[in-house]
Amino acid sequence: MTCSSSETPAGRPAIFARLVIATGNANKVREIVSILDGAPVQVAAIDTFPPIAEPEEHGATFAEIARAKALYYAGATGAVVVAEDSGLEVDALSGAPGIHSARYGGDTATTYEAKFALIYDQMRQRGVSTSSARFVCALAVAIPGRVVFEAHGTIEGEIAPSPRGSGGFGYDPIFYYPPMGCTLAEVPADRKSEVSHRGKAFRALRRFIDQHGLPVRRGEAS
Ligand code: IMP
Repeated sequence: MTCSSSETPAGRPAIFARLVIATGNANKVREIVSILDGAPVQVAAIDTFPPIAEPEEHGATFAEIARAKALYYAGATGAVVVAEDSGLEVDALSGAPGIHSARYGGDTATTYEAKFALIYDQMRQRGVSTSSARFVCALAVAIPGRVVFEAHGTIEGEIAPSPRGSGGFGYDPIFYYPPMGCTLAEVPADRKSEVSHRGKAFRALRRFIDQHGLPVRRGEAS
């Protein structure tokens, strides 16, 4: 692997270390790569490594799960790894689906249309037709055995009266964002990143990298 270095705006040397993104979710990878575009790192997806068994998700919070994933994949690859855990919290549903967002509804709700229907149904059972809600993203960067950076981002909005829009992914069509007057599935990807939970968390990582660089694994330094 080749690494290069240059000067940061603050005049500090920036080492172009490799940062592995530990998610198989192509939508997330696309958003993260675009946010880190131009940062002094070589970004690599986890699927550039030989197949690694997915870890069991351990943890009761987004941050705990992100940490566990980052440590697992850093141990498995020997690389500097960033992992994130994210999801939708609906206040009227006491924060559900939360950390269970990806598998909400289990085998009876395998499509997002079915997950949306389940959320609307559960809100109806509680006598509400809308609710405040937020997306949350926790990220952790780890080297084998140690977490070296963590960040967190949220975006506040509401559950839309019905799904709208075809952009984005996951719960975007039912997440209405009042400052833009539309759901996140109705805004272009770059505008979503400007305001999103993932955009905020990964821009914090980007600021950290710009200031401090990333740990460089043995054999990477030029
Ligand atoms: P994870 O892989 O356990 O972090 O699953 C996160 C899940 O939360 C995704 O599969 C989506 O269902 C949901 N989610 C996270 N971020 C977003 C987003 O930006 N838009 C829509 N849904 C999201």
